[in-house]
Amino acid sequence: MNKDIYVALDFPEWKMAEQFLDQHELYGVPVKVGMELFYREGPQLIETLKQRGHNIFLDLKLHDIPTTVMRAMRNIAALGVDIVNVHALGGGDMIARAKEGLLAGDPSGHTKLIAVTILTSMDQTVLNEALRIPGDITSNAVHLAKLANQHGADGVVCSVHEATEIKVACGTDFLTVTPGIRLKESGHDDQKRVATPGFARDNGADILVIGRSITKAANPKKAYEQAMKEWSNNGME
Ligand code: C5P
Repeated sequence: MNKDIYVALDFPEWKMAEQFLDQHELYGVPVKVGMELFYREGPQLIETLKQRGHNIFLDLKLHDIPTTVMRAMRNIAALGVDIVNVHALGGGDMIARAKEGLLAGDPSGHTKLIAVTILTSMDQTVLNEALRIPGDITSNAVHLAKLANQHGADGVVCSVHEATEIKVACGTDFLTVTPGIRLKESGHDDQKRVATPGFARDNGADILVIGRSITKAANPKKAYEQAMKEWSNNGME
């Protein structure tokens, strides 16, 4: 799988996302479609994006009983997207059934299954005090990555700050998909554990997800190109 940057299409409707992509000439860039857009537009959107030549990460973060997730994944597999995900906190059985559903829906195994470890919007206080999950974020993320690996996931969504340890624990082929990416000049928004594309590259990230640093930039095309440059220069900016 290529070392891509997926642009998060966090727009309320396709018309706005389409306008954004066309206006800024982001033709055929890999895109991430989340719940907001998918719940509005449905599976037809995926067909539209495929026809326009975009690789697609369908970020629906499934988390339910194993049978329900298996059945949902069987339907999702038919969409032929490149990456889908579940929450690792759904447990090993749920992850294994998710993979089973994907393969039942598309025996070619084209779609990669990724498990979300700890959301990058969470910090230590939220984890320990609000959720009462003991331990530090990194050890929890590594533990969930191992669980996902043992149950057939192809990789995880994690913070850049955990990617190196996850690679050590799960092997270099286990994909690390990292959101929480900010260009040097951007703010953090609601993300707590952020990093630049160059830092991500140096720390074992395989695929980047970037939303607001590109979509809210004064010049999104320039921001995308800047991110690609930092990413492919191995952080030597
Ligand atoms: O705007 P920003 O770059 O923060 O967007 C990050 C995107 O990645 C959002 O669409 C968010 O839903 C998604 N994401 C995340 N953390 C995860 C998984 C997905 O921020 N653990």
